[in-house]
Amino acid sequence: MQYHPFGKTGRQVSRLGFGMMRLPTKTLEDGSTTIDREEATRMLRHGIDRGINYVDTAYGYHNGESEILTGLALKDGYRERVMLTTKLPQWLVNKEDDCDRLLDEQLRKLDVSFVDFYLLHALNGEAFTKLQKLHYQKFLEKAKADGRIRYAGFSFHDEKAQFLRMIDDYDWDMAQIQFNYLDDENQATLEGLLYAGEKGIPIVVMEPLRGGALANPPSDVKALLDGHASGRSAVDWAFRYVGDFPQVATILSGMSTMEQVEDNLRIFEQVKPNSLNGQDKAFIATLKQRYLARVKVGCTACNYCQPCPEGVLIPRIFSIYNEAYMLDQVDSLKWNYGGVMRDGGDGSLCVACGQCEAVCPQQLPIIESLKVIHAEAQ
Ligand SMILES: NC(=O)c1ccc[n+]([C@@H]2O[C@H](COP(=O)([O-])OP(=O)(O)OC[C@H]3O[C@@H](n4cnc5c(N)ncnc54)[C@H](OP(=O)(O)O)[C@@H]3O)[C@@H](O)[C@H]2O)c1
Repeated sequence: MQYHPFGKTGRQVSRLGFGMMRLPTKTLEDGSTTIDREEATRMLRHGIDRGINYVDTAYGYHNGESEILTGLALKDGYRERVMLTTKLPQWLVNKEDDCDRLLDEQLRKLDVSFVDFYLLHALNGEAFTKLQKLHYQKFLEKAKADGRIRYAGFSFHDEKAQFLRMIDDYDWDMAQIQFNYLDDENQATLEGLLYAGEKGIPIVVMEPLRGGALANPPSDVKALLDGHASGRSAVDWAFRYVGDFPQVATILSGMSTMEQVEDNLRIFEQVKPNSLNGQDKAFIATLKQRYLARVKVGCTACNYCQPCPEGVLIPRIFSIYNEAYMLDQVDSLKWNYGGVMRDGGDGSLCVACGQCEAVCPQQLPIIESLKVIHAEAQ
């Protein structure tokens, strides 16, 4: 296992962190699913025995069961061997007292007296404004002072400008972002990662395999990988890309089988900062280009077409469509498009007024594309 300095903690953190969001599950007689506690415990303890010392859970993972399982799995002396993180479900916070109440509930579920890191979970601009009004800084300072948390951070899902705003708002101990070789220009972006680094705020990466998609590449990407002399797997390349950045302290993987734990432990023997050479970087850029070549509609999500007078969520529809083709997950199109329909913004609402096409900097045939996608997603 490789280790890395972890900001103000003064500690060395394992570069592979255990994400407790995608644990093995089993189906009960009534058809519901639950975490396979025995196997999940075996996997986590094996990871810790092999050097993992960072564990990431949250209030909502596995319908609230993840925190309970994490607490149980960390018994028998394992708790003392790791830095434990959980997260404030900010969407349940409506008044100042809620933060204290939720943290206390989480400590009870985890059956611990403190967590090492407490993150404001899944922040976007709107949620952050709400927490600012509810004096989140006061809450974090109090929780640090009374010993319920050691360090504070946030996890992030929004655009770069919001990330920079959050980074500048408080003396954070870390920030958690979605980052992988397809997402270096999405969400916090590479620029955001470097900015946090300049301010001495360590980055914890989530979704390094894009939730598993990069582990199962489409055939043309797979052919490229298979032809590379190194023999490295798709997973290996994806982890090495993220791990090359010294600003990244630890990389979370949500492992769902013991084989994945073993595979990732093996890969993380080698994941060192600044270790990719020019040829490696060029190869990863080629992989990314190959994915991007699968994109169907050249929408850059500039949002000039919004708001549509009929409420059609044009950039979101194009993003769903492109994602489905890029990752060769065409089945996901119907599911995600169903979400757009439920939100009342699907392509059937288009009346072909042409307002969007008149302002689209990419000059996309938006009206026709909406028709094609709507038909395909039924
Ligand atoms: N704060 C937030 O808003 C937030 C959001 C997302 C995630 N997170 C945290 O970040 C952690 C990491 O994110 P993630 O789980 O999305 O990470 P990820 O590494 O991008 O995806 C995990 C998935 O990748 C696949 N995988 C992992 N190792 C593999 C291997 N060696 N070979 C083949 N496939 C492999 C598995 O997919 P299959 O199960 O399909 O095989 C696994 O479920 C989460 O577990 C969670 O703790 C936080």
